[in-house]
Amino acid sequence: MLKVAPSILSADFAKLAKEIVDVERGGADWLHLDVMDGRFVPNISIGIPVVASVRRVTDMFLDVHLMILEPVRYAGRFCDAGADLVSFHVEADTPEGIEKAIASVKEKGKKVGLVLKPATPAEAVDPWLEQLDMVLVMTVEPGFGGQKFMTDMLPKIRRLREMIDLRNPGCVLETDGGIDAVTAPLVADAGCDMAVAGSAVFGKSDRGAAIRAIRGC
Ligand code: DX5
Ligand code: ZN
Repeated sequence: MLKVAPSILSADFAKLAKEIVDVERGGADWLHLDVMDGRFVPNISIGIPVVASVRRVTDMFLDVHLMILEPVRYAGRFCDAGADLVSFHVEADTPEGIEKAIASVKEKGKKVGLVLKPATPAEAVDPWLEQLDMVLVMTVEPGFGGQKFMTDMLPKIRRLREMIDLRNPGCVLETDGGIDAVTAPLVADAGCDMAVAGSAVFGKSDRGAAIRAIRGC
């Protein structure tokens, strides 16, 4: 069954603790936190102090998605702040930098993921797939919530499903962007394990019903 990770990017940050309790009680599987540096993506969101504050109000699994250049500079500090999994973009550094960023998360004893922008092929994760706990396929251009799902990402999700099943079956396949009750069955059918959803959860007053609608039951 498809799992759901609500993204707090679409929450009301002035009452974040209440928003988190709402999705936790609503049956969310993971909580997704989007970190943007205004360089890798044309937007700025939250950083280390917010992750630390969220950690203090919930026991949920914190899935921290870094949209920042040279993630090795900060990945360890997000681990220390309470992330359970830190993911970053394969496009955000050289292969050597990505290797170091993966190692920095593993040294902290946390899970690590690699993220692919829409134009990046599935094979970009090849050098690291065996080391990863999660691969995240962006189904919109990263940077903003509320965008339209890119249907042309479905073949890439299918391809990654095959690669993961063959080489690292324990690795979670996650998708992020434009996921709602209509597009969730498409990614689930393509082999996605975990769907990130921002506006489709926090844009609804009944967060539990919204999560169930995405999960499909
Ligand atoms: C976009 C972020 C997403 C965003 C998704 O760069 O990575 O996690 O919150 O928002 P929706 O679900 O509204 O497309
Ligand atoms: Zn995200």
